[in-house]
Amino acid sequence: MDSELHLPHDVEYVNRFGFSGRLDQPDHLSPPYDVIHNLAKNAPQLLRAGDLGEEIARLPIIEAPVPADELELFKMAYSFLVQAYVWEPIHLDQSGLPRTTVPMQLAKPLISISAELDEPPTYLYSDHTIRNSRLIDSGKPAILENLKSVYTFSGTSDENQFVVVHTAYEQVGLPAVRKAISLMTQSHLDLSDGLDAIAATIEQMRHEFLKVKDVVSPKIFQSNIRLYLMGWRNNLPSIRFEGARINASELRGETGSGSALLPFFDRFMSIMHDVEQADENENLQTYWDFDKYRPKWHRSTLEWVAASTRIREKALQSPHCRRSYNRVVEQVARLREAHLHNVGIYLRGNAGLAFRGNYGTGGSNFATYLHALVVHNRKMMI
Ligand code: HEM
Repeated sequence: MDSELHLPHDVEYVNRFGFSGRLDQPDHLSPPYDVIHNLAKNAPQLLRAGDLGEEIARLPIIEAPVPADELELFKMAYSFLVQAYVWEPIHLDQSGLPRTTVPMQLAKPLISISAELDEPPTYLYSDHTIRNSRLIDSGKPAILENLKSVYTFSGTSDENQFVVVHTAYEQVGLPAVRKAISLMTQSHLDLSDGLDAIAATIEQMRHEFLKVKDVVSPKIFQSNIRLYLMGWRNNLPSIRFEGARINASELRGETGSGSALLPFFDRFMSIMHDVEQADENENLQTYWDFDKYRPKWHRSTLEWVAASTRIREKALQSPHCRRSYNRVVEQVARLREAHLHNVGIYLRGNAGLAFRGNYGTGGSNFATYLHALVVHNRKMMI
């Protein structure tokens, strides 16, 4: 393929806007769903007072059509409210128990919109970060200082920053995504130069990730944020969605593992691509399982990359390209390593969950999972 004009629709969109997509979407739901939006907006006050459950009990089941450009915000609002509803009792009283039945007025719209979007009926990384971020000044670039969140559970500036630091990270990675797409589609480009440019951008992504230490206090994260991000798998023994026959307890929660950016480079470089190994290795199985927790356009872009890339084979053909290939692999490993070494302090304490084990909000056994990915990553050097 020698022209970007032939890119599939979703890949073209990613090439243009990145995995964060457009950041100028509507930031409120139109009537009759404005009541849902207002509830999510007021979540910090309601949760502090312990009034959210009662407000939700009073909600009607709304079944009006949703405008196309509000579908993702709709999914985000309902899945956000489910998180808040389930965990509210523990936030108020650490010895309390979570709610384990999601009422029909939340469950029904969430399940139906998720089916329409072809994604799991749960609060995804995308719901928490990219769908939840807007430009402060639409004339300025999508950098950390120019992004704000739509919904937070705690109303703290730390949570606002925690949301948008992910989106800023997605944006920092965009030049490398574009470069990778051009290397896959334009045969005249110099592979070694292209890979070096990608490695340099991934290094910047690491610096962007590390900003989390400056903008999010571990204490506030532990006491006000983390609980509400917890998914059900491995964190909640049982949960039922009223009126629906889905195995909700198996659903993972929001986590950086839902970001498509590292998986994009993993596939581009054919790292972690070996499904046979995944069958043998629990951590790699978890890694692949996170693929289900992405919006459809992320999934289809990753599938296209996996099917289109020949970068590893090409890099094997010259020592020069090999070195550049390994630089990219090393930068991905360093980013994973920086994450592994810096999130520990945020994970201390039990986030209010007396019964919780060593599981991330996404339900991985993080003590082994994050380390295993770094090790496996480096093994893929050539
Ligand atoms: C500071 C608080 C953070 C904590 C406690 C944390 C925790 C975790 C955990 C436990 C996982 C494993 C999956 C699971 O949840 O079960 C994970 C994965 C991940 N997180 Fe974070 N994270 C934090 C911040 C961030 C930030 C700010 C970013 C990006 C800007 C990020 C990006 C990622 C990525 C990309 C993965 C996938 C790991 C990989 O593929 O190697 N995380 N995180």
